[in-house]
Amino acid sequence: MNLTKQEKDMLNGGEGKGVQKAMEILVALGEIYNAEKMAGISSSQVSGVSYKNLGDAGIEFLNDWADNGARIKVKTTLNPCGMDLKNWKKLGIPEKFAENQLRIINAFKKMGIEPTCTCTPYFIGNKPKFHEHISWSESSAVSYANSVLGARTNRESGISALASAICGRTPVYGYHLDNNRKAGLIVNVECELKEISDFGALGCIVGKKAGNSVPFFIFKKGTNTNSDKLKSLGAAMAASGAVSLYHIEGITPEARGKDIILHYDSERIIIENLDEAYKALNSGAKKIDLVAIGCPHASLDELIEISKLLKGRKVNSTLWVATARKIREIAEGRGIIKEIEKSGAFVISDTCMIVAPIEDLGFKTMATNAAKAAFYAPFYCGVDVRFGSLEKCIDAAISGRWNNGT
Ligand code: F3S
Repeated sequence: MNLTKQEKDMLNGGEGKGVQKAMEILVALGEIYNAEKMAGISSSQVSGVSYKNLGDAGIEFLNDWADNGARIKVKTTLNPCGMDLKNWKKLGIPEKFAENQLRIINAFKKMGIEPTCTCTPYFIGNKPKFHEHISWSESSAVSYANSVLGARTNRESGISALASAICGRTPVYGYHLDNNRKAGLIVNVECELKEISDFGALGCIVGKKAGNSVPFFIFKKGTNTNSDKLKSLGAAMAASGAVSLYHIEGITPEARGKDIILHYDSERIIIENLDEAYKALNSGAKKIDLVAIGCPHASLDELIEISKLLKGRKVNSTLWVATARKIREIAEGRGIIKEIEKSGAFVISDTCMIVAPIEDLGFKTMATNAAKAAFYAPFYCGVDVRFGSLEKCIDAAISGRWNNGT
């Protein structure tokens, strides 16, 4: 790999042990993937923050790195951790878990990282520009940054994204290069897509078929999209497959003009309906213990919609709505949180239904409108899942039961 003078200096320990370790990780990665050089990055998103995933070894590793002088050089945001940092007691998080989680957060703080703890950093000011090189982990955020914003990142691990944040560099390979951003799978969607859950269901089907190739969607005329639907689509494809970049004809930035973004031998598939995904993501659970909305973290628009659906109603199941703390604060100022919590629901921040230890909180069944959460929850949280539209999920929270249909 061709390294600049400054990069060589970092590698040789000129900026201290912490930076040296970070550069060693990046050089090793670059060599594995035949990168010719590094690029400067404008931001990083670091995943692997929950004590549930990191365990004790992770705490030691991060604290060691921080004590060796690792400090970030670029804007860096953190993924959700295992608990709401302010209201963890209210959610029933065990004391020991909280103690360990805080040791992880403190290690990141020592490195200069603000504990933003959200998977939607693009809603709270970490919004990279078109063609900017970034180094992000968290598969749904990677997909959003690549596809919806047109920035350039590989699907980094928490460690490689952190190493990039510390060096301000990333090895140039994969989705940093034009040729790898071309689509290899054309997807004609012939069915209607209305709800956020429909976009997630579509993502679930296409993610499985695409593997790690780049899909190019052609939607039925009149299909309405918005950032919440697209974040759900990308999150589901990254969960059921390894899709980190997609294009939508006329909508995403690299598919708006006449540029050829297709490989000459692209395959084509047709999606006629979403039944396969709705069936695969639904267990037979009737009684619903937990309804979890906000995967990826809910936007302000979603919070407003939820507050309208809950107006004048009381929940019978536990209802969690996960959102970034900054979005929560904005919503609080507008009276939206009060409106939602009047129903008995909790608006949670810094965490989510997958990375929080919900298996220790007594929940056996969960309903969600997020395909990614529905995909992971049985395995990560040991719950039976129901998956359907937001309205249906809110109805389940009110009645405590799931009625048939999506
Ligand atoms: Fe975010 Fe948790 Fe879903 S990190 S994308 S809310 S699984």
